[in-house]
Amino acid sequence: MVGARPQFVKLAPICRAMGGLNIQHQIVHTGQHYDANMSDSFFVDLQIPAPDLHLGVGSGSHGAQTGRMIELLESAFVDLKPDCILVYGDTNSTLAAALAAVKIHLPLAHLEAGLRSRNRRMPEEHNRVLTDHAADLCLAPTEAALSNLRDEGLASRSALTGDVMTDVCLDTAERVKDGRVSTKGITGSSEYILATIHRADNTDSRERLSSIIEGLDGLGSLVILPAHPRLVAKAREFSIDLDLPNIEIVDPLSYLELISLAMGARSIVTDSGGLQKEAFLLRVPCVTVRSETEWQETVDLGWNMLCNDPSQLSVILNELCPQPTSAAPYGRGGAALNAAKTILEWNF
Ligand code: UD1
Repeated sequence: MVGARPQFVKLAPICRAMGGLNIQHQIVHTGQHYDANMSDSFFVDLQIPAPDLHLGVGSGSHGAQTGRMIELLESAFVDLKPDCILVYGDTNSTLAAALAAVKIHLPLAHLEAGLRSRNRRMPEEHNRVLTDHAADLCLAPTEAALSNLRDEGLASRSALTGDVMTDVCLDTAERVKDGRVSTKGITGSSEYILATIHRADNTDSRERLSSIIEGLDGLGSLVILPAHPRLVAKAREFSIDLDLPNIEIVDPLSYLELISLAMGARSIVTDSGGLQKEAFLLRVPCVTVRSETEWQETVDLGWNMLCNDPSQLSVILNELCPQPTSAAPYGRGGAALNAAKTILEWNF
């Protein structure tokens, strides 16, 4: 069960692992992300079969979007009669599927369980906590995530699998390592910073968004900024000019393009959970524009610094001085196979 961009990325290795174990696997797409470059390009790039069912839910307020999904998912699940529903991550699609599944007593597994930001302003934090507590099986990507699940009394329903993002990121890095994938619209520069900003807390206030854009423009290097639709819509609503001398705005990138661009970047500035970790896996220094992270290992190992004050972005970026490390808190690949085996063998 998927619906949003980060879930398609995680689906790719899971799909392959399910196939390898001869598990009959059907894909339901809620339609939370519907633009071709937010959805279709991931299925093509990562060789994921087209969804068996596409619900076409689209955008809306949290309640309206989640509510529409629950209703449609319930009837889809009744028709499909699966032995298990697998949900990914922390989006509204995740929570909707979790609620739809448990209400009709279908076994529920949650991939990327146990992550916590402790920030109750984040819609994703509520989505992940509620989904973990609804799930029959919590698949934890890291020791820290497993420890969070234990602390919340969920040990007997939890298993450590490693992080499937490692599988897909390292595979993709191998595919693109021999040269930068041509990226439409990017004029190119040998020295650039890659940036992405899309979290509601960063985009949904005029003051906050405009100080982030100002901070990015003042980093002293070209900033390539693949713009999420939320960022573009909010900048337009607040009359914030994105056409600045040091910022090159491009449409959302395919996964291959993103990894290729990340590998060549001097550093990364982001509020994305996925990109913080990809930066670490590719050993590119990263600044995260938030006050906390679910991926604390990246900070502890010196490859990621938090910066919640956009006027300090340049200072923090210059302070970053990560040392080479062979630490692998997210595993070294093979997590999708672990997750698929665990689901197959779990006594639901
Ligand atoms: C969602 C997830 C977030 C995840 C992000 C990845 C929730 C609460 N948040 O945030 O955890 O990191 O996806 O991108 O589920 N839109 C389009 N085209 C699209 C998709 C969205 O134009 O294909 C626009 C719509 O105007 C929509 C806005 O973007 O209102 C935000 O989309 P939405 O899916 O609600 O949340 P994201 O910000 O993408």
